[in-house]
Amino acid sequence: MTNDESPATNDQPPAPDADPLWYKDAVIYQAHVKSFFDSNNDGIGDFPGLTQKLDYLQGLGVTCIWLLPFFPSPLKDDGYDIADYTTVHPSYGTVDDFKAFVDTAHQRGLRVLIELVVNHTSDQHPWFQRARQAPPGSPERNFYVWSDTDTKFPETRIIFTDTEKSNWAFDPVAKQYYWHRFFSHQPDLNHNNPAVVEAVIDVMKFWLGLGVDALRLDAVPYLCVRHGTNNENLPETHAVLRRIRRELDAAFSNRMLLAEANQWPADVRDYFGDGDECHMAFHFPLMPRMFMAVRQEDRHAITEILNQTPDIPESCQWALFLRNHDELTLEMVTDEERDYMYQAYAADPQMRVNVGIRRRLAPLVENSRRRIELLNMLLFSMPGTPIIYYGDELGMGDNIYLGDRNGVRTPMQWSGDRNGGFSRADTARLFAPPVVDPVYGYQAVNVEALERSPFSLLNWMKRLIALRRQHRVFGRGTLEFVSCSNRKVLAYLRRDADETVLVLANLSRTLQPAEVDLSSYSGLTPVEMLGQTEFPRLTGDRPAFFTLGPYAVHWFSLTTQPAQLAQTLASPDQQARPAVAEDLPALLLGVNWESVFDSAARRMLERHALVPFLARQRWFASKARRLDAARFSDWLVLRGGASPAFLTTVTATFREGLPDTYLLPLALVSGEPAARAIADTPAAVLARIAGARKGLIVDGALDDDVCMRLLEMCDAESALPSKYGTLRGVRAAGIVLPAERKWVRSGFEQGDTVASLSDRYALKLFRRIEPGPNPDFEIGQALTREKFPRTPTLAGAVQYEGPGGAEPATLAVIQTSVSNQGSGWAFTINELQRYYERVAARISRRDSEMMDATEETVRANVYQGIKRLRELIA
Ligand code: GLC
Ligand code: CA
Repeated sequence: MTNDESPATNDQPPAPDADPLWYKDAVIYQAHVKSFFDSNNDGIGDFPGLTQKLDYLQGLGVTCIWLLPFFPSPLKDDGYDIADYTTVHPSYGTVDDFKAFVDTAHQRGLRVLIELVVNHTSDQHPWFQRARQAPPGSPERNFYVWSDTDTKFPETRIIFTDTEKSNWAFDPVAKQYYWHRFFSHQPDLNHNNPAVVEAVIDVMKFWLGLGVDALRLDAVPYLCVRHGTNNENLPETHAVLRRIRRELDAAFSNRMLLAEANQWPADVRDYFGDGDECHMAFHFPLMPRMFMAVRQEDRHAITEILNQTPDIPESCQWALFLRNHDELTLEMVTDEERDYMYQAYAADPQMRVNVGIRRRLAPLVENSRRRIELLNMLLFSMPGTPIIYYGDELGMGDNIYLGDRNGVRTPMQWSGDRNGGFSRADTARLFAPPVVDPVYGYQAVNVEALERSPFSLLNWMKRLIALRRQHRVFGRGTLEFVSCSNRKVLAYLRRDADETVLVLANLSRTLQPAEVDLSSYSGLTPVEMLGQTEFPRLTGDRPAFFTLGPYAVHWFSLTTQPAQLAQTLASPDQQARPAVAEDLPALLLGVNWESVFDSAARRMLERHALVPFLARQRWFASKARRLDAARFSDWLVLRGGASPAFLTTVTATFREGLPDTYLLPLALVSGEPAARAIADTPAAVLARIAGARKGLIVDGALDDDVCMRLLEMCDAESALPSKYGTLRGVRAAGIVLPAERKWVRSGFEQGDTVASLSDRYALKLFRRIEPGPNPDFEIGQALTREKFPRTPTLAGAVQYEGPGGAEPATLAVIQTSVSNQGSGWAFTINELQRYYERVAARISRRDSEMMDATEETVRANVYQGIKRLRELIA
């Protein structure tokens, strides 16, 4: 950007986009500079290395990178023991390297979230060194919390139960005890002292000034202390947070604060304040319950905690995660639940640390791909912003023998090369050994290998992330559980003004039925979101039924107008808007229905029924134009009697442009056929009939007898006069009627309606009437004469000579059915879908070429056929 173009305010790099609520739609990726990539081969990851790997993160599709502490530190708590707040640990690089990283991330639309660890410092921090030397009561000493005894605050629990016996430690220089909630080498800052809060605000401004987008407030419930309390969640602490937030809002825009408050939901709620404390907070109690529900094969643990999760202010958001850099903490579960979790997920005591389990996602679920997908799909569809812990997108393993929580912080596995491609240093020099076991070792689990395989976990994660990012409802919508009697199934809806998504999850390892009550969504069509596959329309009279495979999770978008991309189970007529049946106009007729078109009833239909009917037909071609009126331009009686049928043409006029004319066979039915039509195909009903007899006027293409009569008409080459013209049957190869006559409707694509007779003949109605023979008729006739084997034989056709002497138009053709494995249309659409999936997943060219090979064979075959076809037509 040149100076001329840059906004006048300051020289900060531009933010990726200007929505202040960006964190609601984010997908966060938690990484450790130390573990990600080593650019100078000293065995330790660094900022230049991380910057080089931004391509990978952009390709993964995440939108925000959260970094563990990278400040100077004795690294006794992996950097959470900070010795200098405003620079970078020399092993990781310089402040300039950090700036380059932030700029490069921003150029790629990635935000940066870093740690603001201000509950405590390292005992090496100059503030602490100064404090212990200074006299008691001095401003320097008062930066920390001191006592002459170690018995103060007896109500306060110990957090690192494995290493610490007390929250007090004696300092021989100060000759007093200092307060620490974590390791004894991490003295707690005294946030009751305003000077400390000032100093912390300066630290915050330093990093935000470098372009950092968000800060994770580490260990935030413990900032202030007060006699007689447990020193957690104190009002004084909330006052400090409001102060920090005010300073942030005054000086910066579109930044975010994320609270690490490992507390019960009602207590965490306070960290949002009235939208004036933190923007986000981790949902600690939900996390272990997701693991519990899967192990118990019962949704209760999840529904219970979400039902107890309070509402949060509009501008706030939950941060959701499965795993992170710490142990899977079990502080926010009951004693029984904790016992259960240990037994289920950490049978080996070596897997436990403090009050939790030090394992990664894949080993926790015994490397079950289905369970990994299940947990991720829940994570990505529950209310909040999902966080992925680095390496879990590969299914990386851990090393429970490394001590503390280091077993889940091993080098990222990039390739099958030495050290997993993380560093070219000697393995002995690495900050930690890479995972090398036969199941999770880098030889098997690494980015390079997984990127090459289209169905790998990594490529699946990319698709999941891309899908989530396309639907804002996941980050912003409401949550509602849906009733389902099977407790192994978790069903919920995410909803906003634009979209409703149904999530169905089978928490068990076996196939499960799910009957879900979606009666209030009757008329909508569930479309599975990963594959764009339409499912049967929801009806009001019975619960929707789904079959869920082991650990299967499905996301369905409930839509009024399906995308019409993939093959559909439901006939298009079923894709009615919910209100169609109720809104149908009623026509008052006498006993005789045969004269309906010769009476005032025709005008009534034109006035009230035709326009909405046309608008909801898939074959109606002019959806984009404003439809003014429609009228019956011609008609004839196809069948007389009590349930007559007609062949009509309908002319539609528009606000702009030329009118269209459509073929519309109509059948007047009563009794059982009418009941079936209104239930199954309400969109194909033109009107109700009231008066002397009750019934419906329906699209005649759905009436078997109407189809049969058209067939017979061709074979007999009969001519039927219509009101203003003539209908003429044309016989080509002729028809031999099968013994069993069963009509099936299918293939409503591209404006035609197809009805098949017992797999022998296909009757194709061309809805839009245009003068001149239809190519299907003309070419079909020629090829049938030549006995060309690769196209269906033309049995006959129906031609229409309208008023005014225009060239006869083809209304319908009858072809022999050719057994096939789908239409060219569906083939093309599916192929395109696969192509875009591969592009989205950035699968390397070589591999996609291999996949293309089979498709190539199919295409070559099609090409041969077309070549011969052209010779014949020429
Ligand atoms: C937070 C961090 C953890 C660290 C602790 C003490 O809980 O997530 O890793 O050990 O604070 O700084
Ligand atoms: Ca390095």
